[in-house]
Amino acid sequence: MQQEIKPSVIVTHLSKHFTLSNAQRKKRKSEDKILKAVDDISFDLYPGEIFGLLGPNGAGKTTTLRILATLLKPSGGSVEIEGFNLNKDSEEIRKRIGFLTSELKLDNFFTPDYTFDFFASIYGLGEERRKNRKEFLFQKFGIEEYRYKKIGELSSGMKQKVSLAISLLHDPSFIIYDEPTNGLDIIASKAVEDYLLELKEEGKTIIISTHIMSIIDKLADRIAIMLDGKIAYLGDAKDVKDEGGLENLFFRLYEEKEGKR
Ligand SMILES: Nc1ncnc2c1ncn2[C@@H]1O[C@H](COP(=O)(O)OP(=O)(O)OP(=O)(O)O)[C@@H](O)[C@H]1O
Ligand SMILES: [Mg+2]
Repeated sequence: MQQEIKPSVIVTHLSKHFTLSNAQRKKRKSEDKILKAVDDISFDLYPGEIFGLLGPNGAGKTTTLRILATLLKPSGGSVEIEGFNLNKDSEEIRKRIGFLTSELKLDNFFTPDYTFDFFASIYGLGEERRKNRKEFLFQKFGIEEYRYKKIGELSSGMKQKVSLAISLLHDPSFIIYDEPTNGLDIIASKAVEDYLLELKEEGKTIIISTHIMSIIDKLADRIAIMLDGKIAYLGDAKDVKDEGGLENLFFRLYEEKEGKR
């Protein structure tokens, strides 16, 4: 199937190097001045698929996703999103992406309702569309009851649901989620998972990073495992099953890497 569909996202030899300060080097107990957070990775993403990105802490997942979301400039390589070049057409790309990270902070002083409207105006949504999207998404994530409360008074799970609704307000075609279910209880997580499957059915391109393997098991069509900034494994979810399951594969790759040190 995937051969017939053209990729919507093409990542080629992408890298991101950070120059470390003396303090950072000391903290890391390393002499290296340069940290290759993302080290020459290539992959394609397709419309109508969920691509799961896994890896231990510091593997480079967030850095990769922040680059795709135009929030970080790559050190090398190229990214093409729906025909647009990341370095040249970031404005066009921003209209098409929905980005969510667990570090995204909403202003505690405002209400979900106000915050939604604020972001809707940034995205240039008209009155009618803004209202429709807000009703739809607030209902979808069970926010209605909390819409006029201050965000600062909401639970972390409810805050995350508000962030989810906002990330989707402009109906993006490329969804980039970094640990989207962080802080959510299993009911809310299930709502997010179900909605991601709906979005996939609508033909959206979806990349998610998470430490929760069951989410990847349930949702992902393809899986990449990152280790030390590189892609150590990339394959179909069904092939991972043949490899003895995700957890086995993950630990085998991790131990192989540790052994090499
Ligand atoms: N601005 C920065 N300056 C220096 N180093 C950075 C910077 N941002 C990230 N790093 C480092 O780059 C590496 C990759 O970080 P990244 O946040 O992408 O990992 P991750 O896979 O998302 O990890 P986690 O599972 O903990 O979220 C880490 O070693 C991190 O400390
Ligand atoms: Mg991360």
